[in-house]
Amino acid sequence: MGKIRHYEGDGIRVAYDAERCIHAAECVHGLPEVFDPNRRPWIEAGAASADDLAAVVRRCPTGALTYARLDGQPEERPSSTNELRIAEDGPVHARGALVLLDAEHREVRRETRAAFCRCGASENKPYCDGRHAEAGFSDSGVIGNPTIRPPGEDDSRDLTVRLRPDGPLVLEGRFTVTASDGEPVHGSSGALCRCGASKNKPFCDGTHREIDFEADDPSAG
Ligand code: SF4
Ligand code: FES
Repeated sequence: MGKIRHYEGDGIRVAYDAERCIHAAECVHGLPEVFDPNRRPWIEAGAASADDLAAVVRRCPTGALTYARLDGQPEERPSSTNELRIAEDGPVHARGALVLLDAEHREVRRETRAAFCRCGASENKPYCDGRHAEAGFSDSGVIGNPTIRPPGEDDSRDLTVRLRPDGPLVLEGRFTVTASDGEPVHGSSGALCRCGASKNKPFCDGTHREIDFEADDPSAG
């Protein structure tokens, strides 16, 4: 986890983790009076109502932005389904009731939005830090053979994402993986490649062992 800065407004506190910010879109376009990269500080949380600010923060796809309400209003709730969207040549964007687990199945943190590295080059694993572009990561984001267990009646609402050491992200719980062409597959158990070398992306096919992938996971502590 990188250094997190906090910005307090009227009834809301916004937190920003710069290491998880990989694109300039939703926040700057959504509330330019609050989010201005050419100003210091670049977030002026008092420049919008707490409700408007919360709505734009919830659109941040990477989880770089989060908030806490100070006015007694409800905190952000996870989306009703767990969704994993595969970006062409980029990360997997996750939304839902996400529970990050370390290799020993210990809970690291809960979150509602995250962008997980798929190329293996991030220095902020398991999160994307934008290095896929300079690493030349290339993947259409189309799902080939979905090696996942289909959903069943008893599947957990929460989606646990376990960091297998030097291996994939292991998923347990009800989820939908949506390919870059919009094609969804539904599952309850599976493993997402994060070494960048699987021949069956976005799923792990065991190639991480052949390439001696080292995950390190600096942001899992
Ligand atoms: S929406 Fe999130 S990831 Fe995108 S620029 Fe803003 S803080 Fe960064
Ligand atoms: S993590 Fe890439 S093949 Fe297993």
